[in-house]
Amino acid sequence: MTPRPKKILICVNRRFKTSEASCAACGSLAIAEAIEAGIRDRRIDIAFDRFVCLGQCQKGPTVKLVPSDFILGTSINMVDGILDELEVAGGTKKDSDAEPPAHLLRS
Ligand code: FES
Repeated sequence: MTPRPKKILICVNRRFKTSEASCAACGSLAIAEAIEAGIRDRRIDIAFDRFVCLGQCQKGPTVKLVPSDFILGTSINMVDGILDELEVAGGTKKDSDAEPPAHLLRS
């Protein structure tokens, strides 16, 4: 059984030498934006972060589910499927999980 993913990392590394592989050169910035927006809109219960190189540069764009698997060769067309799987695995946040209103944090 695969452990429940607690976090999703997306490599957005871009190299100065265009001859060297990097996820940003393969479209990972747009993928990161789409996944982040999907997590927020669907209220999927998972942490999200951009990352600079996950050591899979030749196989990117690279996505890492923590603590489990890599998703390699990610494309923008895969985003809806990834979000579907995250929603099934992680569930969605309830209204009671919402952040407290900002005015309550100012004391
Ligand atoms: S540049 Fe993305 S994994 Fe290394």
